[in-house]
Amino acid sequence: MAYPQTRMRRLRATAGLRGLVRETDLRAGQLVLPLFVAEADARIDASSVAESDIALPGLARLSISAAVDCAREAAELGLGGVLLFGVPAHKDPEGSGAYDDEGVVQLTTRAIKQALPGGPLVIADVCLCEYTDHGHCGVLRDAESHPSTGFMPGGPTIDNDASVELLARVAVSHARAGADIVAPSDMMDGRVGAIRGALDEEGFTDTPILAYSAKFASAFYGPFRDAAGSTPAFGDRRAYQLDPANGREAVREALLDVQEGADMVMVKPALAYGDLIRAVKRATRLPVAAYNVSGEYAMVKAAAAAGHLDERAAVLEILTSLRRAGAETIISYHALDAARWLAQAPDAPVRGSTA
Ligand code: PBG
Repeated sequence: MAYPQTRMRRLRATAGLRGLVRETDLRAGQLVLPLFVAEADARIDASSVAESDIALPGLARLSISAAVDCAREAAELGLGGVLLFGVPAHKDPEGSGAYDDEGVVQLTTRAIKQALPGGPLVIADVCLCEYTDHGHCGVLRDAESHPSTGFMPGGPTIDNDASVELLARVAVSHARAGADIVAPSDMMDGRVGAIRGALDEEGFTDTPILAYSAKFASAFYGPFRDAAGSTPAFGDRRAYQLDPANGREAVREALLDVQEGADMVMVKPALAYGDLIRAVKRATRLPVAAYNVSGEYAMVKAAAAAGHLDERAAVLEILTSLRRAGAETIISYHALDAARWLAQAPDAPVRGSTA
């Protein structure tokens, strides 16, 4: 039957009817808040992070105690977890701060676990880029000796297998500190298998791996790199992160991570990649996380500050769309605000063009 017997608007008439037939739910427990924790002499205040007129409070560098406070707030609002990134005071070619048992993320993990035993899950990002002096996600070797893998003509390359060994050490160090989940974001080949093997060998058989499986070489990571101090000193990340044009390759990456023992897979960025959230979910049947990245956060903040968007409505629409695409978990710098808005008035009217 079609119109006039069928009238789609019947079920849209009231908040009660809309709520009854809503297909997608959004709960605070599905959200994860990224936190940047800086060693004392690497700390700078929030206002200098953005280096622009746009305030990006979600990207401030925190002290360990400020990170514990944020985690407490996350717990009070019912967030699923926090995702920790470290900003070390000292960097070196191997990124050794990343696998230091007394490193900033390890210390923060212990502090959060101690202060909030029933608190949000602590997810530790596993990567080297914040800890290497060159800012790449692995260790370098000369292009001369391995010209075929060069990502800069004549320049150095990332040594995949040497990097994987270090990444496994990073993951074990996080597990030892008490991280609930480890999340490798480096995009080296074979790292999930190596991390699983190393964790199991050290007795961390129950520590899950959330693999950044489909992580693209994206233009939307800029504010993160400012906050984390992880902009590559030369070249870019296209020799290890995915080409935004390649969907099938992204699914293949995710399937390989499943074979290597990933417990959850991630698609990153999120907004322009809804097709892949769906495709990766279908192909892997694993829980999928979507990372609503820093540039996506900055766009909403900038548009809201300029009066172009109703921030609350835009954020909830974005997060709901990622759930609709198929993500169980959403990592977002809006997580605290979103949780507050969900608690207050999830179906409040929208100010702006759609009101
Ligand atoms: C590090 C890492 C990055 C992000 C998360 N982990 C940056 C990058 O790959 O350059 C980006 C997150 C964001 O932009 O919010 N490997």
